[in-house]
Amino acid sequence: MTAQLIDGLALAQQTRAQVAQRAAAFEQKSGRKAGLTVVLVGENPASQVYVRNKVKACEAAGMKSELIMLPADTSQAALLTKIDQLNADTSVDGILVQLPLPSQIDSHRVIEAIAADKDVDGFHVANAGALMTGAPQFTPCTPYGVMKMLESIGTPIRGAHAVIVGASNIVGKPMAMLLLAAGATVTICNSKTRDLPAMTRQADILVAAVGRPKLIDASMVKPGAVVIDVGINRLDDGKLAGDVDFESVKPVAGAITPVPGGVGPMTIAMLLVNTMESAERRLV
Ligand code: GUN
Repeated sequence: MTAQLIDGLALAQQTRAQVAQRAAAFEQKSGRKAGLTVVLVGENPASQVYVRNKVKACEAAGMKSELIMLPADTSQAALLTKIDQLNADTSVDGILVQLPLPSQIDSHRVIEAIAADKDVDGFHVANAGALMTGAPQFTPCTPYGVMKMLESIGTPIRGAHAVIVGASNIVGKPMAMLLLAAGATVTICNSKTRDLPAMTRQADILVAAVGRPKLIDASMVKPGAVVIDVGINRLDDGKLAGDVDFESVKPVAGAITPVPGGVGPMTIAMLLVNTMESAERRLV
């Protein structure tokens, strides 16, 4: 057996085309473009690539996007002032502050300063709480994209055992909430989990989101499982690798996402969906 490939690139293109239609309709109705502002503090090379891709995708979908690049030594007060301005700017529908932030800045404080109704990442406590209690306003982009990928291949979720490796606020925790809401039995593993392979081998749906290259090999995967690789790791030779050892796992899994071309493009597509959603809500 060899796993079905889940083509995140193709699904993202479809999603982005749908957003472009909504963006055109929005502009016609409101007389302005839906707008996302992305804030990057510092010079993390991976973050620079991510934010540029986010801005480019917005523009390609007919939305307005501004990238604010601040120096690495920006103070927390200066960043909070900037966020206040964006909160008050009626042409801004979505605000995204790229994480991680430099150590002098408390990321919790910054996320809580973003107006919850412009928090297209879905990281604000109000949005995290709304997701947890079953009425999400904005669903965090990466887990949202993963749900769309599972849906695209008709993965049965009700009653399935989903095992998530990684418990971050960005991916692991919201992923667990979404799978739970869809009827899965969910196990969240972390770096202290004893006998990780014994856990992952139980998974009908395995989501790897830890940032450890090729952590998941074939011996850790139940035959036929759907394996979602959220990791994007730069190897010493410059190549990208996921958290899943793709070549090893492919013959065992039922379906698998590649890196690159898997979850990454869907994260961006869902950011556009959330921004569009925000703009449409603010219009009515
Ligand atoms: N850093 C890594 N992923 C993300 C994301 O989805 N949003 C933000 N703001 N920062 C990130």
